[in-house]
Amino acid sequence: MQIQRVMKSRANLKGHPIHPLLIPFPIAFFIGTLFFDVLSAIYNNPGFWQTGKYLNIAGIVTALAAAIPGIIDYIYTVPPQSSAKKRGATHGILNTVVVVLYAVAYYLKEDHSTILILAIEAIGSVLLFISGWLGGTLSYRNQIGVDPRYADAGKWKEAYLDETNGIIEVAATDELKTDQMKLLHVAGKRIVLGKTEDGYVAFDDRCSHKGGSLAGGMMICGTVQCPWHGSQFDCKTGAVKAGPAKEKIAVYTVSEKSGIVYLQL
Ligand code: FES
Repeated sequence: MQIQRVMKSRANLKGHPIHPLLIPFPIAFFIGTLFFDVLSAIYNNPGFWQTGKYLNIAGIVTALAAAIPGIIDYIYTVPPQSSAKKRGATHGILNTVVVVLYAVAYYLKEDHSTILILAIEAIGSVLLFISGWLGGTLSYRNQIGVDPRYADAGKWKEAYLDETNGIIEVAATDELKTDQMKLLHVAGKRIVLGKTEDGYVAFDDRCSHKGGSLAGGMMICGTVQCPWHGSQFDCKTGAVKAGPAKEKIAVYTVSEKSGIVYLQL
């Protein structure tokens, strides 16, 4: 059995997601490009034009750098089959279009077709704003990259397991504190192992409403609450205790023996 523990965001610096650290650079450089190109058009100043070109290059380079941790978070952190996955895909496509538009604008600068260049950069800036809005929603509402703390300051736990079926070892009995959860990646599924006052439970990580990650939510008194819209589920039966979710979540059999917690797939 191979167990690898990681923070919630796979691309992080001491737990801080890297993507949000990098995105201010391309945003500032791209908007700066448009700003100096407009100044150049107004004052017919070659210095402004040259500054815009430097900022244009800086924007493209830093956007590509910021894309790397963003793609890693999209693949590994954004819950699959969720509204955030669609939002993240739109965010990535818009950012790609922005980079292409600014690359085209840079290429056209050799011909000094100013109005066309400014129009392309203006469209790129509008798309950048929309994409940034979606990125904000991913961070502040969908909580992508958030590193939660559980009761008694229990920290985020996550494990990748090689097994595909049968009864598998998933934790030591004293590994989790009461009301703490651990996200398991096993057999192509995301399963949450939780410790309640009555012992260990296991259930699907995917909220049946819009796919929120229940491991990133709150568990108390045998009830888990989704962090996205507040649906609550019974951890033992998977039944809905509070909407907007209408469908129950799958639950799994868990047993404890000789200090080890086992999950039955
Ligand atoms: S995704 Fe909406 S309540 Fe869970």
